[in-house]
Amino acid sequence: QPTFRIAPSILSADFAKLGEEVRNVIAAGADIIHFDVMDNHYVPNLTIGPLVCQAIRPCTEAMIDVHLMVKPVDAIVPLFAKAGADLITFHPEASEHIDRTLGLIKEQGCKAGLVFNPATPLSHLDYVMDKIDMVLLMSVNPGFGGQKFIPATLDKLREARRRIDEYTARTGREIWLEIDGGVKVDNIAEIARAGADTFVAGSAIYDSPDYQATIAAMRAELAK
Ligand code: DX5
Ligand code: ZN
Repeated sequence: QPTFRIAPSILSADFAKLGEEVRNVIAAGADIIHFDVMDNHYVPNLTIGPLVCQAIRPCTEAMIDVHLMVKPVDAIVPLFAKAGADLITFHPEASEHIDRTLGLIKEQGCKAGLVFNPATPLSHLDYVMDKIDMVLLMSVNPGFGGQKFIPATLDKLREARRRIDEYTARTGREIWLEIDGGVKVDNIAEIARAGADTFVAGSAIYDSPDYQATIAAMRAELAK
């Protein structure tokens, strides 16, 4: 069995008690906190920034996975690094110089990744695999929680898995493959079979009455 990681998106948490929501979801068996940053410019919504990241940092030892849906990218990177982000991903369309932005994230001591919208080709990976720790495929258009999984993402996952496996076989270096959008208990097994190892789930977990039961149900599906 490969290692599977579950990353609840706090976008669907109760913001009035965010620290507790972070602690509860990790206590319920989650691995990673997924932190969605939207700027009302690159995406049509506005969420949370470095101050909120800094505020939740003491609530958990789990990795904080910062998903930047912002344009431009570079100026905000050091702020998130200082706020305790472990991993920072960005959309290639939002950066004028993708290689430079990846380098900047690594210089700040964070892991780095690229995020691919449903219609963004994986060719952006071609010359930067050595600088990437995670590939994040969007299975919805970014901007909102609670959207429906776009089925064409399954083929794209298979292609990303092929590229990553080929790279790892050649270099011995691991790259995580994360999926984000519309992940539920009833489709997580199929998504895993297509190649994902890290699963963002916002509404599926935070809108459920029992986080532990939902995460356990996801893990049971993954073990099938
Ligand atoms: C969408 C965000 C996702 C979103 C996932 O732009 O990047 O992380 O919160 O939410 P669900 O799991 O509800 O689709
Ligand atoms: Zn996200």
